[in-house]
Amino acid sequence: MVKTAARKKVASPSFSLERLSRKELSALARAGGGSLYYRSADGKFVLFQGDSIRILEEIKRRGIQPNLVFADPPYHLSNGGISCQSGKMVSVDKGKWDTSNGPEEDHEFVLRWLGASLSVLEENGAIWISGTHHIIFSVGFALQKLGAKILNTVVWEKLAPPPHLACRYYTHSHEFVLWARKTEKSKHVFHYAFEKEQNGGKQQKDVWPPRNGVGDEQSFPNHWRIGAPKKAEKILGKHPTQKPIELLDRIIRCSTNPGDLVLDPFCGSGTTGIAAVPNGCNFIGIDLDEQFLKLTKSRYAALMENMKDSLY
Ligand SMILES: C[S@@+](CC[C@H](N)C(=O)[O-])C[C@H]1O[C@@H](n2cnc3c(N)ncnc32)[C@H](O)[C@@H]1O
Repeated sequence: MVKTAARKKVASPSFSLERLSRKELSALARAGGGSLYYRSADGKFVLFQGDSIRILEEIKRRGIQPNLVFADPPYHLSNGGISCQSGKMVSVDKGKWDTSNGPEEDHEFVLRWLGASLSVLEENGAIWISGTHHIIFSVGFALQKLGAKILNTVVWEKLAPPPHLACRYYTHSHEFVLWARKTEKSKHVFHYAFEKEQNGGKQQKDVWPPRNGVGDEQSFPNHWRIGAPKKAEKILGKHPTQKPIELLDRIIRCSTNPGDLVLDPFCGSGTTGIAAVPNGCNFIGIDLDEQFLKLTKSRYAALMENMKDSLY
């Protein structure tokens, strides 16, 4: 799994999350119209239930400054369409949170959550955002409007994309993952030497092909190949748009230092937190839905149990 030893222990000006008491976190959540769903016993893993834009405003007010934000926002895909799963026609509707209100309102929403996310980041902080063509161009434009500097538009190629039922255009087989730093001048973290070493001494590319994907074995060593979440990752329950741990592990490993604070404003099943903890990072997750936070909490408990087991 993760080679944390290879990530340099650089002193980041990270906020000490564990110093915030349950009472203080609850007050923060209440002021943002939500609630504190969970705080781990060591205070390093915190979940808020509520609207991320309002809770981020309170996080900012209290001077909590994450080093990294990962956002897997609504792609606004759930509008009565169909897709294909295991050879069967299925609805693409993921839930009310994923419906579109038209391009203007959807873009307005992007500007609001992205603005709130960038505003909490520490000065040298960075953000990663996943998305398909449905939102990624809006996100890219918003990043520029909000003064962030786009570093890469990573292409994550998918292992087994669903076939296109109407046969009127190409199969959608990738997602973009945009990487940006807070401002033009921020000094973002990137473990370049480690990444290069992992790639047999060659610079890593911004195209992340899947395991068993097309391409030559030599030029795409294993850790670049990222398929859909494995069965084991869904054993405690499923989220309709769950991301693979491997994708988040890669993102966190290359752009944080141990001890950093990672925040996910669209936590879902908590994949970001589950990848952050083994990389030595603290975590704040926010989601509207209690069921998803419950799943995150179960995954965190299972992770801690496994990590404890691996000590013996
Ligand atoms: C694309 S999913 C994230 C999935 C996650 N990356 C995972 O691996 O499980 C987006 C999540 O954002 C949540 N959400 C949507 N709008 C929100 C808002 N305004 N504030 C907080 N959470 C929101 C949804 O409930 C959903 O779980």
